[in-house]
Amino acid sequence: MSGVQDRVVVVTGAGGGLGREYALLLARQGARVVVNDLGGARDGTGSGSAMADAVVEEIRAAGGQAVANYDSVASEEGAAGVIGTALKEYGAVHGVVNNAGILRDASFVKMTAEQWEAVQRVHLFGGFHVTRAAWPHFREQGHGRVVMATSTSGLYGNFGQANYGAAKLGLVGLVNTLAVEGRKYNILANAVAPLARTRMSEDVAPAELLERLPAEFVAPVVAHLLTDECTDTGTVLVAGGGRVQRVAQFVSKGVAFAGTPTLQDVADRWPDITDMNASELGTNPLG
Ligand code: NAI
Repeated sequence: MSGVQDRVVVVTGAGGGLGREYALLLARQGARVVVNDLGGARDGTGSGSAMADAVVEEIRAAGGQAVANYDSVASEEGAAGVIGTALKEYGAVHGVVNNAGILRDASFVKMTAEQWEAVQRVHLFGGFHVTRAAWPHFREQGHGRVVMATSTSGLYGNFGQANYGAAKLGLVGLVNTLAVEGRKYNILANAVAPLARTRMSEDVAPAELLERLPAEFVAPVVAHLLTDECTDTGTVLVAGGGRVQRVAQFVSKGVAFAGTPTLQDVADRWPDITDMNASELGTNPLG
């Protein structure tokens, strides 16, 4: 096979925004797409089948193949339902795009445990549950592609988004280990931080900036990571408005103390410890 032709790809939260663009492009490229969406509001309240159904209709009207699923990714049972739809309808699952998401913004001093938990449940737990349900199938067939939707709010921080930022960077941590564990089974895992005008971002960035960030610009990057030809794993991309970049962690040359340093030793060498001029791409020092 080549590209995403005939591959069965699950896109969560594909009833609108970025997920819809991913689903439309994947279907145009010949993939069979599970369009999952709970159909709720931006804060995750409510539900309905109309959003996912509309995208499935759009794909079918254009001659593509798609099926709707309305389960919540936030629970193990919901995720089993999402992957179960792929297996029941198409007999396989080859890729998952963990895109479903909600917002419950509040400054940290005002953030409630409920706001914290609701966001972890959809983004971080959702990414886990859906990928976990697909993983044995990926291993068995020696092929799997995982894309996590991360965010610059996690990579860099953003006011009012402690819950969201933590969940989104948690998904990068998950990708890092999935890349290690998946490699020998030809399972690749990567993350994309999109920048796009959607209902989620409409009041998070200035309107003039959002104008230049149509959601469709991000879709080819996500689709590339799902192709048979893609060999990258464990990478993080930022994509928006036609610009696509890789983001990575760099580690400073640092200082190797011969013995236990004193507090004063650390303070004295602080400029060398934190100097990023001779930094290199970071790898796990424990092997
Ligand atoms: P959106 O609100 O249009 O899309 C999210 C979709 O997920 C909605 O259709 C919603 O119904 C669905 N959803 C929510 N909870 C769900 C659940 N429990 N189960 C199944 N579906 C559920 O927003 P957008 O912007 O398209 O976001 C897509 C992803 O991209 C999200 O993960 C978001 O965090 C991420 N992202 C978006 C950015 C942007 O600039 N728009 C920036 C950084 C990340």
